[in-house]
Amino acid sequence: MALAPPTIGVFDSGFGGLTVLRELLPIMAGAHFVYLGDTARLPYGAKSRETIARYAVSSGAFLLAQGAELLVVACNTASALALDELKAALPIPVIGVIAPGAAAAALHPGPCSLHPSVLVLATAATVQSHAYFRACAALGLQAYEKACPLLVPLVEEGWIDHPVTAEVLRIYLSEALAEAPTVTTLVLGCTHYPLLKPLIERTLAELNHPLQIVDAAHAAAHAAAALIPPSESTAPPTCSFYATDSIEKFQRLGSAFLGQPLPEVRLIDLGG
Ligand code: DGL
Repeated sequence: MALAPPTIGVFDSGFGGLTVLRELLPIMAGAHFVYLGDTARLPYGAKSRETIARYAVSSGAFLLAQGAELLVVACNTASALALDELKAALPIPVIGVIAPGAAAAALHPGPCSLHPSVLVLATAATVQSHAYFRACAALGLQAYEKACPLLVPLVEEGWIDHPVTAEVLRIYLSEALAEAPTVTTLVLGCTHYPLLKPLIERTLAELNHPLQIVDAAHAAAHAAAALIPPSESTAPPTCSFYATDSIEKFQRLGSAFLGQPLPEVRLIDLGG
């Protein structure tokens, strides 16, 4: 008897998690994805652990009620600060993006593999949690974490190839590389940052400090897919989209994150 297609919940504070969904779609034929962007309460990255955990658990509970059998926390901030609370609150497997991101960085230690070190760009809350530092240390990697609080609003504005974003990146990367000149790998520790990858590469080249770039979104998608029994289905995956604020903005910006136009997005209210 054929197995019923799995329903997978994917959530982020906003659009960034669509970069994880974008990686999941080509590798999970037959699956049904329910994506929630908690746009009304974005950004998570500037909030306290308690608030982030409360928002994350209510988002996870919503996806459980939609039939999710696996929850992919496609948000580094929620993964860094609320993974334990999510696992305790939900009766389904929960996977975050930090451990897969660190594991992918460990696979690309760069030329100085005796004392490998990586630079992690992330939100302020993710950096303050030191979740990447711990996940990397467990794999023998030294992590330098750099908070980049201006990047999420710039990406949310659609300024992914804009002189202001280029200048902000140049400042963040120069500061980080002055602190950690021996890093060989850079981890995109926020699901908004894959959209900035071309600009980050260009800025690193201008700084004469090219780095291997690891995308935690890509690594997390493959780790999540490994948790689902292989399907014989060749049917394209299906998706439902929910957001907690402006549907129009979600549809407009979301298509850049997903790499394809978004179908109908439904508005839901998860409270404050
Ligand atoms: N998507 C979030 C992350 O990966 C950043 C956006 C936010 O601050 O809410 O950390």
